[in-house]
Amino acid sequence: MSKNILITGGAGFIGSHVVKLFVKNYPDYQIINLDALTYAGNLENLKEVENSPNYTFVKVDIQDAEKLDEVFRTHQITDVIHLAAESHVDRSISDPLAFVKTNVFGTVNLLNAAKKAWAEKLDEHLFYHVSTDEVYGSLHDGGFFLESTAYDPQSPYSASKAASDHFVRAYANTYKMRTVISNCSNNYGPNHFPEKLIPLCINNIKNMKPLPVYGKGENVRDWLFVKDHARAIDTVFHKGKAGETYNIGGFNEWKNIDIVRLLCQKMDEKLGRPSGTSEKLITFVKDRAGHDLRYAIDATKIQKELGWEPSLQFEEGIEITIDWYLANQDWLDHVTSGAYQDYYASHYSE
Ligand code: NAD
Ligand code: TYD
Repeated sequence: MSKNILITGGAGFIGSHVVKLFVKNYPDYQIINLDALTYAGNLENLKEVENSPNYTFVKVDIQDAEKLDEVFRTHQITDVIHLAAESHVDRSISDPLAFVKTNVFGTVNLLNAAKKAWAEKLDEHLFYHVSTDEVYGSLHDGGFFLESTAYDPQSPYSASKAASDHFVRAYANTYKMRTVISNCSNNYGPNHFPEKLIPLCINNIKNMKPLPVYGKGENVRDWLFVKDHARAIDTVFHKGKAGETYNIGGFNEWKNIDIVRLLCQKMDEKLGRPSGTSEKLITFVKDRAGHDLRYAIDATKIQKELGWEPSLQFEEGIEITIDWYLANQDWLDHVTSGAYQDYYASHYSE
């Protein structure tokens, strides 16, 4: 069946992979990518689909209710996959309000726009909210986050995402909107903005710059290749049950310091440097305030009920990721120089 799907945050890291997957795999769908192009939005991520007949980009901020109404009307939006967000924990510590504005206020604006546009037939449309495992808080030794785990967000980022999840469930309960939520573990892969641990280390190793490891590097994250997350989003969108929550992850826990050492070792090999060269760049720095100790997703539900599982082992995914960054120096140069932010003005007219 033909659909006009609004994907928000489609110029970002995960959103761009979701947009590319949907544009290529579903030629019968119109994909409308709505993004405000903050520092995290990069239209260069979407070059391979930008001229596709079933792809449209609109530069809109989800804080702007009027513009959202216009997008729903103009493009006759049938479904939403909502990824637009402020996503970096460190930025949320220095500027929490920016996270409330986009992640909470922006999400409620989007829910309102969908509710208004779909008023007559709410049951024919789906609002899919993409969220994070960080809403569940911090685990210590043992145990996993289940869909039934109580929310216990610890950072301004996770608090804002938790609030947005609650609003989505409140709209389902109160207004009978068809909604679905997924909560995913840490993603890595191509097009990841180099402020996050893995791309930052790849970039710094390449340039022989210090690798800042917070605290003792003992914190544990559960990593999933971004294209496997995009596949999971496709699965939840098409097969998920309205009103449900699905945890997404690959049962792949790593201490930060072990990831950094792995990157050093693999990049020494790839760059032809003597073994141990990059490890010397590791620098232990002041810990992040309120740093969550451990995240770990139990992804049994999505595996059993929807048949999704990761396609890649971590070692393969890391190889692909490093190779992508080494082969795409232009992308990194444009991000570090800021040139990527000129792409909209030079390729789209206002
Ligand atoms: P990102 O920071 O790379 O991209 C976010 C995108 O949203 C950018 O293109 C940005 O321009 C856009 N955006 C920001 N504010 C906006 C606004 N007010 N209006 C419209 N667009 C706006 O983020 P990401 O890592 O791709 O994460 C995407 C989603 O997935 C987020 O909702 C995040 O919470 C969630 N998530 C991320 C991870 C992860 O590891 N990165 C894991 C689980 C869930
Ligand atoms: P990050 O990639 O920011 O993702 P998140 O905070 O959402 O998990 O950080 C991943 C882990 O790496 C987290 O425990 C913080 C740590 N970290 C560092 O040690 N050094 C860094 O420079 C960054 C950005 C993160």
